[in-house]
Amino acid sequence: ASMLGKNLKWRANFPLRIWYGMDPFDFFFACKEKYGDVFTFILLGRRVTVCLGTKGNEFILNGKLKDVNAEEIYTGLTTPVFGEGVVYDCPNAKLMEQKKFVKFGLTMEAFQSYVDLISSETQSFVAKGKPFHGDSGTIDIVPAMAELTIYTASRSLQGPEVRAKFDSTFADLYHDLDMGFSPINFMLSWFPLPHNRKRDIAQKKMADTYMEIIKARRAAGGKRDKGEEDMIWNLMACVYKDGTPVPDKEVAHMMIALLMAGQHSSSSTSSWILLRLATRPDIQEELLDEQKRVLGEDLPPLTYDNLQKLTLNAKVVKETLRIHAPIHSILRKVKSPLTIVANTPEATNTYQIPTTHTLMSAPGVTSREPEFFPEPMKWEPHRWDEGHPLAYTRLGTDQEEFEDYGYGMISKGASSPYLPFGAGRHRCIGEQFAYVQLGTVLATMVRHVKFRQIEGKQLVPTDYSSLFSRPMAPAVVEFEKRKS
Ligand code: HEM
Repeated sequence: ASMLGKNLKWRANFPLRIWYGMDPFDFFFACKEKYGDVFTFILLGRRVTVCLGTKGNEFILNGKLKDVNAEEIYTGLTTPVFGEGVVYDCPNAKLMEQKKFVKFGLTMEAFQSYVDLISSETQSFVAKGKPFHGDSGTIDIVPAMAELTIYTASRSLQGPEVRAKFDSTFADLYHDLDMGFSPINFMLSWFPLPHNRKRDIAQKKMADTYMEIIKARRAAGGKRDKGEEDMIWNLMACVYKDGTPVPDKEVAHMMIALLMAGQHSSSSTSSWILLRLATRPDIQEELLDEQKRVLGEDLPPLTYDNLQKLTLNAKVVKETLRIHAPIHSILRKVKSPLTIVANTPEATNTYQIPTTHTLMSAPGVTSREPEFFPEPMKWEPHRWDEGHPLAYTRLGTDQEEFEDYGYGMISKGASSPYLPFGAGRHRCIGEQFAYVQLGTVLATMVRHVKFRQIEGKQLVPTDYSSLFSRPMAPAVVEFEKRKS
């Protein structure tokens, strides 16, 4: 309670909501310096208690079901976008079953077929896509990567029918649906604002489209061709523990959820990868050399197996997610009174967190701390090499803990200061897919294009105004296609 008193006084001097909204990391680090790892502020009328540090990450992300709750916080925003009966519009046990279905659909065979599809989409985008017009020029990275991410995700995970629709009707529907994710909808999700009306129409049309695809597949005999490994096929065959097959409507809604979950996170990350590479031509050459050395001078087609051998390629993705994780804040509703012990600059305090509060976790803070990552704001993929002067100080020592949340043994792993995919029961199931998608796009790009910062320009800052962090538009760099 004393904490709250302090914060409320302090709030009189600073427009906290605006500060948090403009640069959450600036805000978190300033509060940390003043108050320590645990503090409360008011956001959109709610008392939000932030818990930082590896202990704070653990406290929130591995919180017990009876203590912390995700669906009550997220459902207002997500249910109108995804549709009913899935993710946060159902009890947690059902979400755990749905996550298991998705996870089991992301098989080795699926990934093997995806690498080929994703690299061919990327190649044709570089060769024929509008943003890459000509042999060299400038490119606005954010819209270009948003477009490519839709093509690669739909061609692989979503399946050929959805990919074909993205050349026409789906792009507009997707855009309207996406408007449902504006932050104002944390408060006004149900309100018939124009963007919410459009969202609702788009959700229905999109769900109907998925259901038509499912029906057509069944009508054609319900058998997939060999090598056809998309998620619709997988979910159509899944059965809940109580014996109910997943209804078509829920398959449709889960497919929308996967589309939305994957789109922002991957397109923002791939944008940052290219923007960072534009500042480091040396790394681009090293990546190409790695491919020549490991796969052969003639650069054979990428496969899932040879992608695993490109270690620098993976470290570029990993390092980009350290500084540019697309999800900067994770929220939970407090369900029973909680106690956490944390250090302030002066003392060790015990805080009681009442059920009227919302918890906020921001693992991006620990991944920016010099204690774990020397010169934390320096983007350096080689810091993941053993023995590098900037090496992660706990490299090889993080104890991974696993627990079965009902969808396989999942890494709790919240003791690590590096958690771009979260931890615990709500941990991301898209990590491997994201690594396949981002790794393939990156490896294909470096074969065909070079990127350069425009002379005199700096790396763009981060835009935190949507719910995801992404590069501030316009983020323009130079490109030059390699002669093949
Ligand atoms: C959950 C990050 C890609 C599907 C999460 C969470 C994070 C995250 C931090 C935890 C949220 C929470 O605890 O509240 C990322 C990043 C990605 C990525 C950094 C890419 C770079 C994907 C993709 C998919 C996906 C491609 C789908 C194929 C999900 C799902 C959840 C999740 C279904 C579970 C939500 C829950 O259990 O509450 N992701 N994600 N993600 N993500 Fe991802």
